Parts: sequence; structure tokens; C-alpha cells
Amino acid sequence: MFIKVENLKKSYKSGDVTTQVLKGVGLELNKGEIGVILGPSGSGKSTLLNIIGGIDRGDSGVVKIEDTEVTSLSDNKLTDYRRDKVGFIFQFYNLIPNLTVGENIEVVSNISDSPLEVDEVLKAVGMLDKKYRFPKELSGGEQQRVSIARAVVKNPKLLLCDEPTGALDFTTSREILKLLQKVNKEFGTTILMITHNTAISAMANRVFKVRSGEIVEDKVNETIMPAERIEW
Ligand SMILES: Nc1ncnc2c1ncn2[C@@H]1O[C@H](COP(=O)(O)OP(=O)(O)OP(=O)(O)O)[C@@H](O)[C@H]1O
Ligand SMILES: [Mg+2]
Repeated sequence: MFIKVENLKKSYKSGDVTTQVLKGVGLELNKGEIGVILGPSGSGKSTLLNIIGGIDRGDSGVVKIEDTEVTSLSDNKLTDYRRDKVGFIFQFYNLIPNLTVGENIEVVSNISDSPLEVDEVLKAVGMLDKKYRFPKELSGGEQQRVSIARAVVKNPKLLLCDEPTGALDFTTSREILKLLQKVNKEFGTTILMITHNTAISAMANRVFKVRSGEIVEDKVNETIMPAERIEW
């Protein structure tokens, strides 16, 4: 098992009110697989993904990624884990505006142990010819391709995507999904992706449905649909 989450709990306090956002979540995903997390707004999807990725911490429970027990790492080790093992892709691309496409990728590859070639990754996402452009000179889909390149260049074992196509139209979304499937195949990257779009779950090995902080359904897909055939 590559990802193993057991009885993960997390609550937030604001004033006197405590809200339990994760109520004992468990999930598992094999190495090299794609997992999709579905669920309504506010159900705890991002909270779960952020704890798995070491951006946030749970209150109790266990998150294990390969041999690393993420939940018991010190702050310094958690930073190492996040830097060395995890790539993040968000709904809004978070590129650095005053760096070119190439430089946005380089800043990440420079701090990685075993980065891929910047140009190889830019080629893989179809953005090599726009290496010297600035983010504001790109469309939303192109910016998202660059943010995928930025996440992939450090050759992470785990790629976490929070609504990666949330801001994109149908055709562009499908291009992004094809790209994620390609990254999964070519680099063997395990991918866990949050989406509101149930159609996207067809390309996953495993689908988790979250409702109010609990996994209410956990389904293994027997056949995986190529992203280019997904319709919605
Ligand atoms: N830092 C925080 N402080 C207080 N409450 C928070 C915090 N972060 C999240 N929450 C609350 O936790 C709940 C779950 O939030 P989360 O972002 O995980 O939901 P989500 O499933 O990702 O929703 P969406 O689909 O809208 O992105 C929400 O009710 C949210 O208000
Ligand atoms: Mg969210």
C-alpha cells in the first residue's frame, strides 16, 4: 500500500465553536494508481489532501506514505517530506508572476534531490515553446500545464491535485486530465485528485466519496477510461 490513512481526525476551533472536519477517515491507494476524491463543498476534501501532503496536521490518526509515517514527523522532517516526495496542483495555478515559465519550473528543480530535466518536463506538458513567456501571457489551461510541470519536475512519488480542472472549460480540462494520466504512466507517479466532477472518476483506479468528514463510499474501478474518452 502506497498511501495508508487510518482513523484520521481533524477539528477546527473558531471562538467557542469546534467543528469536526474529519471524523475518522481511512483510505488506501496502491503505488502507481490514480485515486479520485468526490464530495460536496465543505465535506473536508481539501483538509484531507493537505494533511496527506504535509501542508496541515491532523489531530489524531495515521497517514503513512510508503515507508514514511507522515503524522509522526517533526516540523523539519515534514518540510523535507513535502519538498522531496509531494507535488501539489491547485485550482488556481499559483505561478510566480515575475518569473518566466522556465524560471517557475527551475526554482522547484533547484531545491530537489532528483529533479527531472526542465525542458523534458516542459515538453511533456506541451509548453517548451513558451518557456520564456510570463504567466500573464498564457491562457488558464496553459498556466495549469505549467503548474503541472512545476509539480512534476521534482519527480515526486505522490502528486496531489485539488480541483485541477476547476477553473477550466471542458476541452481544456480534458487536456489537463490526459496530461495527468500521461504523467502517471510515464513517471509512475501515484496521483490523488479532488474533483466535483463525477465523470472524472472514470479515469481513476479507486474512487472515494466524502460526506461531512467521512468516507461513505470506496470503489475500485475494474476498467480505467482513457481521459480523452471522458465526456460531461
Ligand atoms: N483553517 C480553517 N479554520 C476553520 N475552519 C476551516 C479551516 N479550513 C477549513 N475549515 C472548515 O472545514 C470544512 C471543510 O473544509 P475543506 O476545505 O476541507 O472542504 P472541501 O471539501 O475541500 O470543500 P470545497 O469543495 O468547497 O473545496 C469547512 O466547513 C471549512 O469551513
Ligand atoms: Mg476544497
